[in-house]
Amino acid sequence: MTPEDLERAAGDSAVGGVSAYFDHAATSWPKPTGVVDAVVRALTVGGGSPGRAAHRLGLEASREIYAARTACAAFLGARRSKDIIFTRGCTESCNLMLKGLLRAGDRVVVSSMEHNSVARPLAVLARLGVEVVRVAAHENGTMDPASIEAALSAPTRAVVCQHVSNVTGTIQPIAEITRIAHNAGAVVLVDGAQAAGHLDVDLSQLGVDAYAVSGHKGMLGPQGIGLLYLNPELEVDGLLEGGTGGGSETVEMPSSRPDRYEPGTPNTPGILGLGAAVAFLGGEGAAQRDQEQLLTQHLHEGILDIGGYRVSGPAPGSPRGPVVSVVPDSGTPPELAAWLDREHGIACRAGLHCAPWAHETMGTRDTGTCRFGLGYGLTETHVDMLLDALRVYRS
Ligand code: ALA
Repeated sequence: MTPEDLERAAGDSAVGGVSAYFDHAATSWPKPTGVVDAVVRALTVGGGSPGRAAHRLGLEASREIYAARTACAAFLGARRSKDIIFTRGCTESCNLMLKGLLRAGDRVVVSSMEHNSVARPLAVLARLGVEVVRVAAHENGTMDPASIEAALSAPTRAVVCQHVSNVTGTIQPIAEITRIAHNAGAVVLVDGAQAAGHLDVDLSQLGVDAYAVSGHKGMLGPQGIGLLYLNPELEVDGLLEGGTGGGSETVEMPSSRPDRYEPGTPNTPGILGLGAAVAFLGGEGAAQRDQEQLLTQHLHEGILDIGGYRVSGPAPGSPRGPVVSVVPDSGTPPELAAWLDREHGIACRAGLHCAPWAHETMGTRDTGTCRFGLGYGLTETHVDMLLDALRVYRS
């Protein structure tokens, strides 16, 4: 696929005539051409079953998956590629780190900003006897490390905190929370769905024990692929058992990473697409990340200048992920989102964003918000188009 093909696809009325795509927090679109090419290649010239066969197509698929795993590890600052576990997405990664670790009688401290990919597995675990202690964040979404520290007065197995809010873009002080949790003997499990690919995530600096990543949001890979980083010292049970291509004479799963957590034929097109996305992000995509920050601030300040919208999350000028959520003074967030789509071809998402706890924290549980998620491919022209539309809606 050439850049011209991609541009054509982006402007194609067959995909809804989208003139500006502000739903990157849900899924990034369009994808870099290298990602599209890698998926097509995996489905055409490189379609063997990895780790299962000694013929050239199988070996080539294994080699390319190894390269993608190594690239993901390097991009995220993980020392060993075998600590990168490929999953179906961040939801599965969160389930694996939570259900693989926590057992009846354990106590877990969790931020009040979590997405349902954490809240729902924890609800299941609570029914099985895990004590879940939810700690309230500030209404701008920030989790105060002191509140976490106060909640760690009783022995605690884990602290669970997102890195960036999918509703407000709030960036949590993960390194500080990790220091406090480790001092109290708790491990730290992080949902990085909205951070990876948007922020410079360096796991060697953050020091967390597990970090869940979505492949298709800021990482710019295809849908259906994600990963979980597991610290070498953290042992968790797998979610699934099955064939791994080795040690087949026993019904026991292998104990080695990553095989232990990856039974079944892997999503080779997804993994190779993610590998290509990481190559893009580490190269020309790096400039895009800086641009995202500027555009997010421009959008935030522009909305405040227009007036008539309540903006959730950190104050303008404060660091935030590329997400701006608003509640209009007139009309509802879903009405605003539908109007933007219908009248201007602007795509965004309204509602609770699968994060009712976050909306409770911010006082928007009853209305939800209309969310603008920025990312790859957006320019100042797109942001100005959105601001013009918001000005019209308000008038
Ligand atoms: N979790 C994704 C979102 O926030 C789907 O929209």
